Amino acid sequence: MRVCYKGRSEHFKTVSFEASRNEVVLIEQRLLPHQFKLVSTLDYRATARAIQDMVVRGAGAIGATAAYGLAQGAGAFRGANLERFAAHCLVVYQTLKEARPTAVDPVNAMNDVLAAMLVGESVEEKKALALSAAEEFALNDVRHCRGIGEQGAPLISPGIRVLTHCNAGWLAFVDIGTATAPLYDAHARGVPFHVFCDETRPRCQGAGLTAWELAQEGISHQIIVDNAAGFLMWRREIDLVIVGSDRVLGRTGEVANKIGTYTKAILARRHGIPFYVAIPMSTIDWETRRGWDIPIEERSEEEVCGAWGVDSKGRRAYVRIANPTSGARNPGFDVTPPDLITGIITPRGIFKPRELWKNRSVLKG
Ligand code: MRU
Repeated sequence: MRVCYKGRSEHFKTVSFEASRNEVVLIEQRLLPHQFKLVSTLDYRATARAIQDMVVRGAGAIGATAAYGLAQGAGAFRGANLERFAAHCLVVYQTLKEARPTAVDPVNAMNDVLAAMLVGESVEEKKALALSAAEEFALNDVRHCRGIGEQGAPLISPGIRVLTHCNAGWLAFVDIGTATAPLYDAHARGVPFHVFCDETRPRCQGAGLTAWELAQEGISHQIIVDNAAGFLMWRREIDLVIVGSDRVLGRTGEVANKIGTYTKAILARRHGIPFYVAIPMSTIDWETRRGWDIPIEERSEEEVCGAWGVDSKGRRAYVRIANPTSGARNPGFDVTPPDLITGIITPRGIFKPRELWKNRSVLKG
């Protein structure tokens, strides 16, 4: 995606790998929209911390980061003993997997890397295979997002008003994004439309990240507080909802996404508004049998009790909002049942959520 940086318009990926230094390069998302900065993680532990602390966030972006992190960890191994190398890679895999539990993309991405490494006969060969599999995952992420754009663009008719939640834009992937892909595709073809960005408390990915992305692209948009969506739907000011997802169950069509998604789906159903979920293949979990079993990340109380911004010197700063003696509950995600979802937009077509399983040969291939 192109970003105006230091007075110039340049193309950036959210995640990339600097092979000569064995470093993962990330956009420091916690500073956006106030400051655009690239940071590097020097080893796999730092890469896992960057995922956990949300330097990088969003399902596809943490998927690519985990894949690169595994290749990075493998690359740092010294020696030629295959057994020790395998044990080391398992530790790296586990560390990266545990960084954030809800999105399935990191697990799918790292499984691809491990599978590719199997055919290598020496440690050095396996290291090279790990890196090329990670690069392949990142490339596919971009291809899939482009495909979602093509599949979803017909939904964006002239004058339509679209609600989106959290950030499933290019910052949440390697490039382009999922929920935003149909919007970027339609915008590139000159279709006029308007986007309402849910603020998305507590971390405000909608207000900070989606709004910033849309502004970079010159797309008409406004930020709304999370509680305003019902009112705007009732006033017939929202025609369509598109969100991303962190994990879609292939067996049931249940969708885990940022907390508040379920509420928006209920509101959309109440007002007869189509509700779509846009995902790449790496977001499908073919194993888990019930939404109830999806691991839902519980984040810190401080996210609910306060907010981050920048101070007058441009430094990231936290202010406490809530009553100082109160605690908070902070589930990061919720699960939307399939009957509230109009369609799942994938690079291979738009499917009813309950039809994913039936179409698994198309979707897995
Ligand atoms: O906690 P985050 O910012 O990593 O969560 C991301 C989301 O839940 C987004 O809503 C998105 O739809 C899924 S990632 C594409």
